[in-house]
Amino acid sequence: MHYTFHDHHPPAQDLLGEVLTGLACQPKQLPPKFFYDRRGSQLFDAITRLPEYYPTRTEIGILREQGDAIAEHLGHDTVLIELGSGSPQKIRVLLDSLRPAVYMPVDISGEHLRDSASHIARDYPDLKVEAVCADYTAGLQLPDMPKDTARAAFFPGSSIGNFVPAAAVDLLRDVGRDLGPGGAMLIGVDLKKDRQRLDVAYNDNQQITAAFNLNLLTRINREANADFDINRFGHRAFYNEAEGRIEMHLVSTCAQKVRVDGHHFRFEAGETIHTENSYKYSVEEFHELGAEAGYEAEQVWTDPDELFSVHCLRVMACADLRGRLAA
Ligand code: AVI
Repeated sequence: MHYTFHDHHPPAQDLLGEVLTGLACQPKQLPPKFFYDRRGSQLFDAITRLPEYYPTRTEIGILREQGDAIAEHLGHDTVLIELGSGSPQKIRVLLDSLRPAVYMPVDISGEHLRDSASHIARDYPDLKVEAVCADYTAGLQLPDMPKDTARAAFFPGSSIGNFVPAAAVDLLRDVGRDLGPGGAMLIGVDLKKDRQRLDVAYNDNQQITAAFNLNLLTRINREANADFDINRFGHRAFYNEAEGRIEMHLVSTCAQKVRVDGHHFRFEAGETIHTENSYKYSVEEFHELGAEAGYEAEQVWTDPDELFSVHCLRVMACADLRGRLAA
């Protein structure tokens, strides 16, 4: 077993500061990264298994179905860098078809990363596992690796959709710098589709998504000395066609005042806190976004119902990039 843990000590997130700033905005907002405490991660896990939430099983299906084709594009014996060490099922499907030389998961949560990476190292004894505890949105800080080994990044789950497009471009461009010219990016992206299907995926029958959204307030009560009454807020999620995104909100069901660490915030009845965006892209739109971030679209795989897409993008060499900008 080859297993190394590189701890880059990502700075503790300033939950209180970001909550105070977000609630002072008009309209009020909260950052979705705070969904994922222990309970939130369990609820997200449950979401991925819901009949209404098609992205996870559809992406796994594509990775399974297209394993050989993906390996042809990414090559074997690569350094495979996973952004976030999310779904063990997805990475195992990919490791089986790709057989990389090194697997490098990058995740902000040390505890979760240690757990998942050591299990992979145990189950794939020939694979070199180099876990990196860092905030991948603030630079990858990758350990040294042989210059001549091809690099590929894996960014599954349509997590890119949780960034507004300008921030998505910045993130992809930064990762591209770490991959270097010719590096590959395998990225899962949820596709635009009829709004009914999208609305249902974020408004499930069992109300797990509602619990996931409301858990944010429970976390803020615990960690930011707040007194949100969870019974006076409701879950709302809808597809905003003009913006091409699902929006999640928490709706105040009455006029009320909430205290957060000594600061008071007034809510009108029906006023919302915007908690998440989940952008959906057509294949062409995502190619454009990738080009803006310095990538060439190489291949895209979808499922038969065209619900979800997995793209292989290639980091352009500087000369190609200059040519594109001049054109
Ligand atoms: C993590 N992310 C890609 C999910 C999504 O679909 O945007 C988060 C989620 N929010 C509600 N359901 C799932």
